[in-house]
Amino acid sequence: MTRCSAPGKMILLGEHAVVFGKPALALAIDLRIYSEVVPSQQYSVNWHPMKKRHHAYISAALDEAWGGPPINVDTESEIPSGSGLGSSAAVTVSCVAAMLARKGKLDAEKVARMAFEVENTVQGRASPTDTSTSCHGFGVLVAPEKTDGFLWRIEKDKRQWNIHHCDVPKLTFVVGYTGIHAATGPLVAKVKKLVDDKDEARKAVDRIGEIVLEGVNATRSADKRRLGSLMNENHQLLRELGVSHPMLEKLVEACATKSYGAKLTGAGGGGSMIALTDEPKEVSAAIAAAGGEPIQIEVGCEGARVEKNSRGFKRPGEEPAQDLED
Ligand code: MEV
Repeated sequence: MTRCSAPGKMILLGEHAVVFGKPALALAIDLRIYSEVVPSQQYSVNWHPMKKRHHAYISAALDEAWGGPPINVDTESEIPSGSGLGSSAAVTVSCVAAMLARKGKLDAEKVARMAFEVENTVQGRASPTDTSTSCHGFGVLVAPEKTDGFLWRIEKDKRQWNIHHCDVPKLTFVVGYTGIHAATGPLVAKVKKLVDDKDEARKAVDRIGEIVLEGVNATRSADKRRLGSLMNENHQLLRELGVSHPMLEKLVEACATKSYGAKLTGAGGGGSMIALTDEPKEVSAAIAAAGGEPIQIEVGCEGARVEKNSRGFKRPGEEPAQDLED
């Protein structure tokens, strides 16, 4: 039995624009996915036959990282699926890590590269932000240029992303989960079409890139006022790119007076928003009153790791497994 886990993430600044090669800043969160790999009679997920359609990320991870005899992959998730908190990246990273660890070839950069390929295949078009953050943990700055804290570079279709470690100061965020699941692939494709067709959309993407670089300095110096105002501006631009949702607007609005800033996080179209605040209880209450689910999270957590102890995964005959998708 080989068991690995990987954290979810929240994108502080830069989602969508990063798919075009602009910078992004993402933080690992304290919700994880655990994946365990054991020899089996057939390829299966939680002891149910693996189906490409139902287990898109896990079966693509098998194609990318395994190539061995049949295995069963057990997954256990603390991250709500489709919440914008990186469940697809965490399931991919933890599965790839468990497969490579089983073969005795575990190294973080290799896991990050393979996990990116898996996400790109399943999603249609992706950046390595979610997968590299889930793999490395802590904070991750994705940037077109190499700078301090460089970890690795990932390239695809003439775009390149340099992945950097970023220290995360003590900041308090509350997540507001809309409960609405929106798949990432179609939202990424929608933004691509808008950027191809419209000058304003291209400008919005460029401005998001600048916001991220300003946000890195504000994060490093824990300048909450500046960071909050950049989050607000980033949210406006994401709304212009057509990836917000009335429920996200409602939750962002509900947090306005009790937070430094608030924005949608991840692909949007539902999923979650985040608020930077010193008053997490009040912000949580405001999110709940507006009809969202508040989730208090810690940020800057450890990346993918091999787990020593099994936590009693589901066995044959128990609940069927679903693939986890953002
Ligand atoms: C999704 O969490 C983040 C996006 O920027 C897509 C990606 O980077 O692959 C929307």
